[in-house]
Amino acid sequence: MLKFPFERLDAFQGKSAAIKRPREITQFSFDEQHKHHLDQRSLRYYYPPFVQVPYIPDKHRIDLSQGFETFSRHDDSVNLGLNPLLDTIRHYEEQNGAKLDADILTWRVAPFDFFGEYIEENQAAKAAELQASKDMNQRANKSLDKMQFWGYKFETLATLPKQWQDCTRDEIEGRENEIVDNHAQYCSVVRTGIGNHSIVIGGEVDAVEGCKPDDPNEPIPYVELKTSEDFHAGDNFAAKKFERKMLRFWAQSFLLGVPKVIIGFRSKDGHLQRLEEWKTLDIPSFVKNRGMRSWDGNICINFAAAFLDFLKQHITGEGTWTIEQKKGEKQILLSKIADAYDKDIVPPRFREHRATF
Ligand code: A3P
Ligand code: MG
Ligand code: MG
Repeated sequence: MLKFPFERLDAFQGKSAAIKRPREITQFSFDEQHKHHLDQRSLRYYYPPFVQVPYIPDKHRIDLSQGFETFSRHDDSVNLGLNPLLDTIRHYEEQNGAKLDADILTWRVAPFDFFGEYIEENQAAKAAELQASKDMNQRANKSLDKMQFWGYKFETLATLPKQWQDCTRDEIEGRENEIVDNHAQYCSVVRTGIGNHSIVIGGEVDAVEGCKPDDPNEPIPYVELKTSEDFHAGDNFAAKKFERKMLRFWAQSFLLGVPKVIIGFRSKDGHLQRLEEWKTLDIPSFVKNRGMRSWDGNICINFAAAFLDFLKQHITGEGTWTIEQKKGEKQILLSKIADAYDKDIVPPRFREHRATF
């Protein structure tokens, strides 16, 4: 077992490691049955919801809980692993007749959860943790479900299935009554680089603003949609909590090259109050210059570059390793668990395909 310690984060301070602008290579979709398709059928189009002014009494504002009972929820305990990403890449390589070379291939994983404690995507550990929190407090869990619903409801209210001019009036005005369904997803696959490492990342994208440009060299105006509890200027505790949350918003969007984050601020009880638009690349400098400096974008990037150096140095040849960060510990553990590829992680059909190149 090897250790990557990070006791002192200031060791990662300074000018950030080189970053390459993420460029989309290809995309894919999950449909309403969560079936995988090699196209962009599930791409949504951003169109702001009809937010009303905050001084109107709550009952006249958009209630994000509306439709919670009919939420068609995808069971994400069924883990597809890397398969959809590898299938997409296999298809892309077959079409282009060339291998997509990269040091690292991964799903974009932002350290997302309500308690901020995972780095790895260990589904079993995640499920166990979730179950523990469920058992601990059924009622708290119920409100957690509701809060998750608010996020998906906001996405439904703020997007259209086609560009605005191709939608019917019903499609635009009926969004409040549309059944919220999170089976369908659109994913972008990008090539990017951090430090000396080339990386191919796949990740879900909420919507595009306008449309995707025809020119593949132009950046794509994707948007990331988020909900967050509103707070008043002067509430320093809430402002700091929000600033920490922005780290996740930034990391998630920055890695895929999503240029804009749109935040739907809601009341404590889930009424949408107002929207705020942030340029992804402005978030770290805001935190540094006008915020409370609760995190530093350069440290994050340098940390990532150093961690990737560590992985590249130790992961050599064929094998299967685990990466683990135990709660509260300031180190990441790398352990080799097998001398061969795990066929549940890299399926034989991908290996056979690669063998022909
Ligand atoms: P909010 O982020 O507005 O709370 P994403 O923003 O990444 O597109 O995800 C959409 C919504 O899915 C989130 O909305 C949140 O409700 C829910 N969600 C995403 N990832 C989650 C996770 N790991 N655990 C719990 N809920 C999650
Ligand atoms: Mg999303
Ligand atoms: Mg979102």
